[in-house]
Amino acid sequence: MKKLIAANWKMNKTMEGASSFIGEFRKLAKGSDAEIAICPPFTILAEMKKLVAGSGIMLGAQNMHFEASGAYTGEISPLMLKEIGCEYVILGHSERREFFGEKDEQIHKKIISALNNGLKPILCVGETLEQRQTQKTEDVLENQLINCLKDIKDAKNITIAYEPVWAISRGNANVKSATKADAEESHLFIRKVLEGIFGEEAARNTRILYGGSMKPGNAKELLSMPNIDGGLVGNASLDAKSFAEIIMSAK
Ligand code: PGA
Repeated sequence: MKKLIAANWKMNKTMEGASSFIGEFRKLAKGSDAEIAICPPFTILAEMKKLVAGSGIMLGAQNMHFEASGAYTGEISPLMLKEIGCEYVILGHSERREFFGEKDEQIHKKIISALNNGLKPILCVGETLEQRQTQKTEDVLENQLINCLKDIKDAKNITIAYEPVWAISRGNANVKSATKADAEESHLFIRKVLEGIFGEEAARNTRILYGGSMKPGNAKELLSMPNIDGGLVGNASLDAKSFAEIIMSAK
């Protein structure tokens, strides 16, 4: 299985920054072994589609509504994302859960809608520091996975991102990532839960990305772990050189 490295630009970059990023990144990431996706803000998706043409770089959104259309002021629908050429959509990111009150029930509806509309959801799961310190990590991960993936029969287009909330940089490059051993332990656990939901073969073939302060200095060792199938990269994906370095370390 090829590694997937996805950039989560969050609420960063306007057209100018995106265009100079892509110009530089396309040169630096030539010949990489990984699949690459970039999830920019909604407003520049259409222009990004032109910038990445012919490069193999895929696009993703950072969120969506579960309805195809309707009276939902300020929301973006899966049909709109599909039309613009998105392949992926990040769903259930911890910042959506924490700052915008998203709950598993809503995320579940979004996953089903994404799949029905031909988008590939990247479902984010992960524990807070307090949950980790009180030994609740496995319960949290299991509940999030079961709640968000129930009634779904086919795991084929689903990607999971394990994002321990305490390791997410939120723009602070000094935040420490999970160690490769801690990350691997959670990834293995996630794979076991997926096995219970979808069966052994489907679980084996589902990508589980790691997210949380992945950067050039730690990407190689994290990505060398048997159950880490790629990365969801925030802060370090904003710079073409550092994102390309991460891409080039994915074998
Ligand atoms: P980070 O963000 O790489 O800046 O820690 C990852 C994420 O939140 O997806």
